[in-house]
Amino acid sequence: MNGFWRERAVLITGASSGIGRALALELGRHGARVGLFARRAEALEAVAAAITAAGGAALVLPGDVTELAHLTSAVARMDTEWGGVDVLVANAGVARPRDPFDPEAVAALMAVNFQGAVNAVGAVLPVMQRRGRGHLVAISSLASVRGFPQGPAYSASKAALSTYFEALRVRLRPYGIAVTTVHPGFVDTEMTQGAGRLPFMVTAERAAVIIRRGMERGKSTVNFPWPAVLAMGLVRRLPDGLFDRLVGRVPPRQD
Ligand SMILES: NC(=O)c1ccc[n+]([C@@H]2O[C@H](COP(=O)([O-])OP(=O)(O)OC[C@H]3O[C@@H](n4cnc5c(N)ncnc54)[C@H](OP(=O)(O)O)[C@@H]3O)[C@@H](O)[C@H]2O)c1
Repeated sequence: MNGFWRERAVLITGASSGIGRALALELGRHGARVGLFARRAEALEAVAAAITAAGGAALVLPGDVTELAHLTSAVARMDTEWGGVDVLVANAGVARPRDPFDPEAVAALMAVNFQGAVNAVGAVLPVMQRRGRGHLVAISSLASVRGFPQGPAYSASKAALSTYFEALRVRLRPYGIAVTTVHPGFVDTEMTQGAGRLPFMVTAERAAVIIRRGMERGKSTVNFPWPAVLAMGLVRRLPDGLFDRLVGRVPPRQD
């Protein structure tokens, strides 16, 4: 435990399960005040109860990231209760619907993974600009490095997210606002349930510790776990023909 997080107000989208939940508990333990945003209010209540039981502070902020008004209300509530938002973690994400040939399915996925993060940034930015400080964090994915045929829309949504946040990093630096993009490999959460054994998978708790440390150091990118980062570094450099043959061997998930 260090003093870095003491009384910092952190808004986490997708805090009801998986990485978002684990990060909320991790930051709460380190003294942060955590705004918990997601659609499942009951699950958020349980996370808030665990944080307060450990001596931390949390606000339950039920909402959908595809609705900008839900996010602006959540930010207004944090502003009233805690005087602003110091850190946004745009973590809410989905891997379904998977059908890459159904335009409505692709739009629905993009609406959460990309536009949902854009909405969260839009909601917190006026508060951060008013104060001349802040930290935006996006939970992207190593799946953003190339177009994986097992999840074309998912890969595209994460590539869009990483590119957007990289550009924001440069645009917002003069305003005192830092930007971090996180690229996890496989993490054991609801999203990966039923997928069997996945290479180099880490627990959500381990992911939360790595993300917290990266945020404390103000890193521009946080990529983990290292064996997956190395593998994806190679995959990124593969010539198209070899990439097509290798990734084409892995069948797409049908669920
Ligand atoms: N698991 C992995 O292997 C992995 C790898 C790389 C990156 N990631 C990324 O990590 C992030 C967290 O995923 P996870 O693995 O922790 O999966 P998860 O356990 O399924 O968590 C997803 C979270 O997003 C929330 N969410 C989904 N749609 C939402 C919406 N419309 N509005 C508000 N919240 C919404 C969910 O809450 P509600 O259902 O309550 O709304 C839930 O809290 C995602 O962005 C994912 O793409 C995951």
